Amino acid sequence: MGLIVLSNREPYAPTRNDNGELQWTPSIGGLTAALDPALQHAGGTWIAWGEQHPDVTDVDLPTEQPRYRLKRIRLSDAEVRDYYYGFSNRALWPISHYFIERTQYHASAWRAYVNVNRRFADAAIAAYQDGDLIWVHDYQLALVPRMIRDALPNARIGFFWHIPWPSVEVFRTLPWDLDILDGILGADLIGMHTPDYVAHFQNTCRRALRADTSGDLVHWKGRAARIVDRPIGIEVDAYEHLATSPEVEDTADRIRRTLQTQILLGVDRLDYTKGIPERLEAFDLFLDRHPETRGRVTLLQIAVPSRERVDSYRQLRNQVEGLVGRINGKHTQGGWSPIQYIYRGVPRDELVAHYRAADAMLVTPLRDGLNLVAKEFAACARDGALILSRFAGAADEMPEAIQVNPYSPENLSDAMRTALQMPLDEKKARLTRLREHLRDSDLHAWTDTFLHELKLQDHGGA
Ligand code: ADP
Ligand code: F6P
Repeated sequence: MGLIVLSNREPYAPTRNDNGELQWTPSIGGLTAALDPALQHAGGTWIAWGEQHPDVTDVDLPTEQPRYRLKRIRLSDAEVRDYYYGFSNRALWPISHYFIERTQYHASAWRAYVNVNRRFADAAIAAYQDGDLIWVHDYQLALVPRMIRDALPNARIGFFWHIPWPSVEVFRTLPWDLDILDGILGADLIGMHTPDYVAHFQNTCRRALRADTSGDLVHWKGRAARIVDRPIGIEVDAYEHLATSPEVEDTADRIRRTLQTQILLGVDRLDYTKGIPERLEAFDLFLDRHPETRGRVTLLQIAVPSRERVDSYRQLRNQVEGLVGRINGKHTQGGWSPIQYIYRGVPRDELVAHYRAADAMLVTPLRDGLNLVAKEFAACARDGALILSRFAGAADEMPEAIQVNPYSPENLSDAMRTALQMPLDEKKARLTRLREHLRDSDLHAWTDTFLHELKLQDHGGA
């Protein structure tokens, strides 16, 4: 029995070096950060969009020690524009995060979404052998479970929705709401990160689709799909091991020596859901309210570019750069600038060194499906405090974090002060409890549990 995984984003992006050889660099984002170790553990086939060098079709990954086969789907420029930047990231992404005013519902984008979902489904159907498990991921591929189900009625199909599922009132603004629900309900087992998202999804099925639900089942088209909350974990041991390696410790010490201040850290894709402008404004307020901290605290924001062809993302980039300039211009004194802004992705070991160097981590999304950065920080921190938005899916699992409302600059500013003044014993005690939980529900447990449940799922009776 094999495993076939489908996602829009591929785990590694190819680039050619000076000798013309292909090099594979890890993609940045929560989905691939979670699924690559999972596939390395389980083996199988991963079907994804081959963005760069689309002429390369199949490859065994990771290149130095292959564990699974990546099948790369080539998309035309028009498909990328309408399916990825269009329907996925101008319609489904903003409504799922409650940003209705940023949505654009275009029929042409919808048609491209249907066609590209069909291409992914066909690739899975072609790769399928009797008894395989098929696991489809995320909002870019919501129609794929139904398309595979129609061709392979007996296949075991799992689906994981990695972002929030919004309230039915919001979801129903989507003109293709019923198609998306019907698409997902082609799966036997549907996973989401929190009980709230599951409850919203069930309510949406009842209200929009008029489907019956009982317990964790949704009855639809003569079948029963099971819907469960199963938040993703991280590879705790691997992160802890890296965090305590001499090289990473040295880099963390160097970061602290260079800045010579306490460090507040932010690490995000540059996405309007992540609350970066709100965080910067709150830091400005913090410095106004606590002038004695000037010269003694630095906010280090590392933001990786994301989806730059979408207007909202370009506007965000300008907004963030403007705020960094304004706040630095206002408070800079005697060689100290309050905000250090890094606009790129950093390699894993450098990222972990930053987690290690930080006195406090700011994970303050306005809305986030889960947020792996919060978990990575908790696994790696030396003795830092975690400030976590109540609107991140991970908040349910992390009561030891300082939980905040990112819409309130006062609340965020207070949390910065609390974190920076927290006694060492308390920070360590909180980190210990956070790590215990991370360990109980790590990434491998997530993968194994989901696949085990999928295998056992009785997909016959409705
Ligand atoms: P999302 O899925 O929205 O991208 P997550 O927080 O769940 O958000 O996952 C983001 C992943 O990308 C994490 O594994 C994190 O380490 C990584 N990441 C985010 N920003 C950066 C960055 N600037 N440089 C390197 N890695 C990053
Ligand atoms: O985790 C949510 C998600 O949208 C994933 O589906 C995606 O891979 C990741 O964030 C990064 O976004 P993108 O693939 O659009 O760069």
